[in-house]
Amino acid sequence: MKAVIIGATSGIGLELTKKLVNEGWEVGITGRRVHILQDLQKALGKQVYFARMDVSEFEEARAILGDLIQEMGGVDVLILNAGIGSFTRTWEKEKAIIDINATGFAALANIGYKYFEEQGGGQIVGISSIAAERGSSFIPVYNATKAFISSYMEGLRTHAQKKRNGITITDIRPGFVETPMTEQNGDNMFWVATADKAAKQIMQAMKRKKKVAYITKRWWLVAKLLKVLPDFIYSRVA
Ligand SMILES: NC(=O)c1ccc[n+]([C@@H]2O[C@H](COP(=O)([O-])OP(=O)(O)OC[C@H]3O[C@@H](n4cnc5c(N)ncnc54)[C@H](OP(=O)(O)O)[C@@H]3O)[C@@H](O)[C@H]2O)c1
Repeated sequence: MKAVIIGATSGIGLELTKKLVNEGWEVGITGRRVHILQDLQKALGKQVYFARMDVSEFEEARAILGDLIQEMGGVDVLILNAGIGSFTRTWEKEKAIIDINATGFAALANIGYKYFEEQGGGQIVGISSIAAERGSSFIPVYNATKAFISSYMEGLRTHAQKKRNGITITDIRPGFVETPMTEQNGDNMFWVATADKAAKQIMQAMKRKKKVAYITKRWWLVAKLLKVLPDFIYSRVA
């Protein structure tokens, strides 16, 4: 089996890369830090293909994904994992979060979906977040981008179901995972999973062709609670 992972140089993407290679998959990895991509290929061997990609350079990123898929002789799964978050509220930061988490995601999901349509099947695994469930005062734009991609994936899934085109769309919604991205959170986290555990559960959800999966599983409970909390309580905690 073959997969491409967008954003494989650290955290969840890195753990997914190691696990897929361990299971014998051929894996195409991307990110901006090319030295990490090179080191990973050296360490993991010929099953690994790599390409430097900045997902916020949308047109270039789409072309690079197309080339990588061709170099690998096709893929079965596209994992869209690249994402950032920041408590800084400048427009520059907010725009970067939108570019990478939302527009970059759509730019690549669009080409991936078309590719799988032509191929007659395949799977897109998108790394959204529990943050997709509701808006939040901490990083408002982050939650908005994750709501965008979860809604976008639901739309793609519905399209695939209507067309019966063999495409599976798996929406992954992690709670807190210990990665470089969450270092800025300090102690303000709970139910924190290691990236290793998160990657294990993501692989499980991917193989079971889940529509939506919470990582770790008990975050499902938080998602349900978030949906029903009345505004006067929610506004105090979120
Ligand atoms: N950690 C959590 O608690 C948590 C919770 C919910 C959802 N998530 C989501 O999980 C995903 C992975 O996050 P993580 O926690 O593993 O963070 P991470 O360790 O910071 O990894 C982020 C990955 O995204 C890539 N990336 C960032 N900007 C990019 C760009 N412009 N172009 C291409 N690649 C880019 C990075 O590669 P380069 O820097 O090499 O480009 C890196 O490989 C994100 O979508 C995040 O929103 C994380």
